[in-house]
Order: sequence, then structure tokens, then C-alpha cells
Amino acid sequence: MTSRPEADHETTPSTVSASDSSSKTTSNTRKVFVRTYGCQMNVYDSERMTDVLAPEGFEATHDLEDADLVILNTCHIREKAAEKVYSELGRIRKVKEERAKSGKDMMVGVAGCVAQAEGEEISRRAPIVDVVVGPQSYHQLPDLLQKARGGRKVVETEFDIDAKFDHLSDQAQKHVLKRAPSAFLTVQEGCDKFCTFCVVPYTRGAEVSRSVEQIVTEAERMAASGVREVTLLGQNVNAYHGEAPDGSTWGLGRLLRRLSEIGGLDRLRYTTSHPRDMDDDLIEAHRDLKTLMPYLHLPVQSGSDRILKSMNRRHTREEYFRLIDQIRAAAPDIALSGDFIVGFPGETDQDFEDTMDLIRRVEYGSAFSFKYSQRPGTPGATMEDQVPEDVKSARLAELQALVSEQQKAFNASRLGMTCDVLLEKKGRNPGQLVGKSPWLQPVQLDAPEDLIGSIQAVEIVEIGSNSLFGQLFDRQDTTQKARPVPATVV
Ligand code: 5AD
Ligand code: SF4
Repeated sequence: MTSRPEADHETTPSTVSASDSSSKTTSNTRKVFVRTYGCQMNVYDSERMTDVLAPEGFEATHDLEDADLVILNTCHIREKAAEKVYSELGRIRKVKEERAKSGKDMMVGVAGCVAQAEGEEISRRAPIVDVVVGPQSYHQLPDLLQKARGGRKVVETEFDIDAKFDHLSDQAQKHVLKRAPSAFLTVQEGCDKFCTFCVVPYTRGAEVSRSVEQIVTEAERMAASGVREVTLLGQNVNAYHGEAPDGSTWGLGRLLRRLSEIGGLDRLRYTTSHPRDMDDDLIEAHRDLKTLMPYLHLPVQSGSDRILKSMNRRHTREEYFRLIDQIRAAAPDIALSGDFIVGFPGETDQDFEDTMDLIRRVEYGSAFSFKYSQRPGTPGATMEDQVPEDVKSARLAELQALVSEQQKAFNASRLGMTCDVLLEKKGRNPGQLVGKSPWLQPVQLDAPEDLIGSIQAVEIVEIGSNSLFGQLFDRQDTTQKARPVPATVV
């Protein structure tokens, strides 16, 4: 399962791990600008790319014009991904030409799933691209750039994921000093599920899990550098099956139990899950672990058995309902989230009605929904009965209206509650901070800056359209008190 889609964004110096001594600006310092598209795994990968480049004297910049190296970390999940990359490369070409007038060079790299899927085609169509690097080869970036400096076009799209993880982990360890209070940690990559709409098994390759030791070491290092919340990432994160120190294989539930023992890591999350891999141990972890936040993104894609079968999802709607019942029995206040695709080939009005019925029955706290998009090379792309665009648009609007109603109701149900909020950064207005509720809602409140990184008891006093507004209770980190302070559910 792919990760929850996020707004495209740049990897900024505040979220990127600034390197230690090597990050100091010297005459040899070069600037790297990374633009990240797509899921959280790309966000994590962008951070690791900057880690790997730090010892080479690269420092992150917000400013494209100022960059000696530009990397586009791309996403291929839905339509027009490659076209977006080519038009962005067109804009970058102009910046590069401007810089050249003052004698400054700019190298350009394309990373991520479009790089994996398009390979050499990218440097053919966009000659300004010096390096094309697939998601499993980021550890080789310094070497690839070195080769490209000789004027060669370099394309590296091998699948050697173990090497990537070993190397990136080492680099991250050496170079990370300070981090934002909430961080991502990739525990698993790739997917063997082959849902018939999805490119991920082709762009990210087969499922590979990192070892328990590697993950624990990285999480301990994060905790030591001030991280309070870790979100474990994987395209199919609950299929995690990593090697433990004793040689046995651990699932995600066991891994979460181990991570919850790390001092300072007060919040754990994971994304994204597949219903087939939600085993009892993981569900019980939601019941047992105070550190495991009451939020679960569990995409179902469709509520119609016929479409689920054609999508190769390998479960029925009834099985999904049973799972939801089990999860809610273990964690009654959990916020459920999901992904939906409308207009998959062959989807009739009745199939769509089944999806709407499923949404009504489950009652989501939030959800992401998409019009089906034909991805070249996937079985869905060549299926008969492709659904017309106007039908897809109408169904999407209907579904989003229902989800939005449910989201509003869920948010409104938090009014008057006191809950723990991890304060993450400054808010839009002076004197304001923004944090996250246990249910992953943004919470805005008046609070002094020195509380960033602390977990505070906050009373929810107002509900906005996208975030909650809260008031500080006192100014003591809740984990310093008789811990832990549970969210008060009324
Ligand atoms: N068309 C539309 N949506 C898609 N997704 C994945 N592939 C496609 C596609 N071909 C959606 C799924 C997935 C989310 C990350 O993106 O809902 O869960
Ligand atoms: Fe998720 Fe299915 Fe794609 Fe795998 S193939 S990443 S399970 S949507």
C-alpha cells in the first residue's frame, strides 16, 4: 500500500538534518535544493539524500536560484506525473541559464519513482539532467555526481535495497544533529501485492524489511536528537517482517512494542497499511501501547466485492468490516482514515453505491480519494470498460462531500476535550504554535516558542475547517507528570 499522499513540498533546512561541522558555510560549501513530490517515503528519502551529500560539502537551501545542485524527488502514482517533471525541468533550465551568465554552474538530478520508471528517457528528453537515480540507489549519489561532473549522463536504477539501507543509515548516524519533533523512519519498502491499478510494485520493487537492529538504532538516535514522535513508513508497512537480533522474524506489532521502550519517543505512528496484513498482534498493540497513537490509515479503495476482486485487493467488504470491528474493540477512540478510488474500470453505479455505503458504515475521521488513473504497465490500464471522465468526476465529488461531512463530525466531537498535543512549529500568527492531536489533527494555540518539542495537555475550544484550536492547560510536558496522561474521551 502506498503512503498517504501529501502536498508536494521542498525539503527545507529546518526539516533536513543539518550536518555537523561539514555543514558550516565555507568557500567550499555548495548548496542543494531538493523538491519532494508524493508520499512521506519520498520526504524521508529526500532527508537521507541530503545526509549523504553533507560530507561532500552540500548544505540545503530553500532557494532554487542559489542551488549548485537541484534534485527533483518524484512520484509516479497518478496521472501526468512524468509530464509535471518535464515542465518543472523546463523551468529549471531557465534558472540554470541565468546562473551560467554569472559563471555559476548548476547540476540537475531526477530521483524517485518517475526516475525509476522513465530511466534514460529523462536525460534524452531533458538534456539538462545530469543524473537519473532510482529510489534504491540514493547512497550512490556522491559517486554518481562525480561521474556526471565529467560530462557524462548518468542513469542508475538498480534495485539493491539492502545496500541503500545499510549505507543511508550509517550516513544518517554520522551527520544528523538536530531534528524536528516529529520524524519519519522507513522500516519497509516495496510491495508484492500487485493491486491492478498500482505502479508501486514496479517502481519500488519487491517488499524488503529493514532489520530490527537497524531500526532501533536509528530510532534511538532520533530520540537522542530531540524527536518525540516517529512515524514508521512503508508502502505496505504492516507487511513488515524484519530480522530480529535472535535470528527470528518480527512483525510490525512486535517492532512497535520494542520501539515503545525507547526513552523520549513518546509517540509512534505507522503508515500505510493493507487490510490483509492487519494481524492480531498489531491490533493488540493498539490496545496495549500508550505510545501508539489512536490513528489508523487503512485504505480499502472500494466497497464493492466485484471491484475489490478486479483490483486484486484479496479481501471482501465483509472482511474489512470485521477488521474494523476488531480494531475498534481494541482501541475505541481510534480515528480511521482510508483511500478510495472512483471509476476503476467496470465500476457501475451499484458498485459506487456500495463504496458510499461502506463509508457510511465505517465513519471515517478523514479520507483521501482519487479518480482512477490508467498507469502504463499495470493490468488496470488495459482493462475494458474504462469509466468516462465526467462519471468519475461526479462520483468523486459525491464521495468527497460524504467524507467531508464525516471529517467535520469527527473534528466536532473533539470540542471540549483535553488531549495531548505535540507542539511542532510556529503557527501562522505571532505567538501561535501548531501541533498534532493524537488523532493527527493540526491544533493551533497561543504558546511560547520554547514549548516547541514538548507534549502539552490542551483543551480544544474551537473547531475550524482544517484544524482545531486549543488552549494550554498548564506549561508542563505531560510526560513529566504522572505519565502518561491519556486523552480524555467524553
Ligand atoms: N489511480 C488512482 N489512484 C491511485 N492510487 C494508487 N494508484 C492509483 C491509480 N492508478 C491511490 C490509492 C492509493 C493512494 C496512495 O493512491 O488509493 O492508496
Ligand atoms: Fe498499496 Fe496495492 Fe500499490 Fe502495493 S500494489 S503499494 S498494496 S496499492
